[in-house]
Amino acid sequence: MHIVHTIPDLRAALAAYQHPAFVPTMGNLHEGHLALVRQVQPLGDATVASIFVNRLQFLPHEDFDSYPRTWEADCAQLRAAGCTVLFAPREPDLYPEPQTFKVQPDPLLADILEGQFRPGFFTGVCTVVMKLLSAVFAGKANGTALFGQKDYQQLMVLRRMVQQFALPITVVAGATQRAADGLALSSRNGYLSEAERAQAVQLSQALRTLADQALAAAQALPTAWPASLPALEQQAQQTLAARGWQCDYLTVRRRSDLQPPQASDSAGSLVVLGAARLGRTRLIDNLET
Ligand code: PAF
Repeated sequence: MHIVHTIPDLRAALAAYQHPAFVPTMGNLHEGHLALVRQVQPLGDATVASIFVNRLQFLPHEDFDSYPRTWEADCAQLRAAGCTVLFAPREPDLYPEPQTFKVQPDPLLADILEGQFRPGFFTGVCTVVMKLLSAVFAGKANGTALFGQKDYQQLMVLRRMVQQFALPITVVAGATQRAADGLALSSRNGYLSEAERAQAVQLSQALRTLADQALAAAQALPTAWPASLPALEQQAQQTLAARGWQCDYLTVRRRSDLQPPQASDSAGSLVVLGAARLGRTRLIDNLET
């Protein structure tokens, strides 16, 4: 595996390849990331991963400074997973001057859910991903970029960005990897105490219950079921709150645009999304119906 830190070195390392397959990460890799690397490998002639903790997507009170940085272990895991090139820019390699040009995503998609609770998050994500895509794919015939479905809204926002800017890149979704009890794998799971870890699966269980209730309502009330969703969502939030969680959102949306469903939407085309805090750890998860 070739490790490079600068954009010119990355481009030199990729000079012989025309169809890179790329997985951007913030490091602290776990089985979820490695599954993405393995999934993307057959889709290109070089497998590229990046590790960069992107300051632009953290709010001032968030965990940028304490975000786990596990460089040696990450390199070993990427090497074992068959990564060809690891791009690990230092901050000045990616932001040699303040990044005053930003990629502003569609507010209809980016100012809701995560964007409502983490204002500016998707601008930070889009800006760094555009820069990473430019670093990896400039001058290439085409390529593939893979993003995990655990960050459902992020995947949608980035898909739309790639489409609207007509980048010659196919965006592929990587299925969420889960621990044996059902907790979605995430670097932030490492913040959980032992007791919190045992409890953390309650978030995905709440999503499952809410999805089942939404499907049951759609069957029982073919035209009126969307009106019953707010009460079901509130009940789900109250259940989690009673167990010590602080909920940001727990909501049923349609997959096409993440807006609240209408009666004309099929109950099989929905996604249930949740974000909630257990102690100091904020977890997100989602489930398609
Ligand atoms: O999902 C992540 O890890 C990050 O948001 C990404 C896509 C690597 C951009 O920093």
